[in-house]
Amino acid sequence: MKDLFGTALLDYFNGNFSEDIVTSTNISEDDELPLSYLFRDYQDMSKLEQQALQLAKGRVLDVGCGAGSHSLYLQNKGLEIKAIDVSKGAIEVTQKRGVKNAELISILDETEKFDTILLMMNGTGIFQEVAKVSIYLTHLKTLLNPGGQILIDSTDIKYMYEDDDGGYWQDLHANYYGELDYLLSYKGESEPLITWLYLDFETLATACESVGLTCELVMEGDYYDYLARIF
Ligand SMILES: C[S@@+](CC[C@H](N)C(=O)[O-])C[C@H]1O[C@@H](n2cnc3c(N)ncnc32)[C@H](O)[C@@H]1O
Repeated sequence: MKDLFGTALLDYFNGNFSEDIVTSTNISEDDELPLSYLFRDYQDMSKLEQQALQLAKGRVLDVGCGAGSHSLYLQNKGLEIKAIDVSKGAIEVTQKRGVKNAELISILDETEKFDTILLMMNGTGIFQEVAKVSIYLTHLKTLLNPGGQILIDSTDIKYMYEDDDGGYWQDLHANYYGELDYLLSYKGESEPLITWLYLDFETLATACESVGLTCELVMEGDYYDYLARIF
């Protein structure tokens, strides 16, 4: 990994902003991801994110913290936070923004226990593919204190396959429709393709059930997105 994501966050944080990250997928064209969005504060977060932050309690793990925006809010509110990310630049930025406990580690290598595990900005993306969802959920379950919860958001992207007359053009022989090949570019360089998973609520709930977790729908957003609470 070249860590273009982390480089972009560092550039923005250090006042060297010149361009945004560009993302594309196998079913969508180039799209700019504004770096300022990754530094959003509470007022600029979606209703789903704000709701997740209100539900967070106890010791919190922010998985894939990015620039640490959610961690910072909760830390300022007095909660004990640990922020983790696989991007070195992201962790550096999160620390420089003032998050006291931020570590460069993958979720699968985390071993501590928490009351709330937060996965925000399409949190299911980290699971990569449907076949791996139960592996991640089983691991997340081991990190929960008794009475603990996982707060995760995602989007049902079925609408992206809708054609003009309301039908769907999905290839029935393809993988699950939310498994996308995702390309991230910054300043003319690209990361190797990754798989990024958008998961509809029903599939997430079924996967939770299969590993002995309960999944409830907390709220739906305006763009086929939703917030789930798993316990
Ligand atoms: C879409 S960004 C979300 C950033 C942040 N949560 C936000 O809402 O602004 C996804 C983040 O997950 C991180 N990530 C990807 N796989 C991970 C893993 N296995 N463990 C921890 N973090 C991971 C990426 O490096 C990236 O920073």
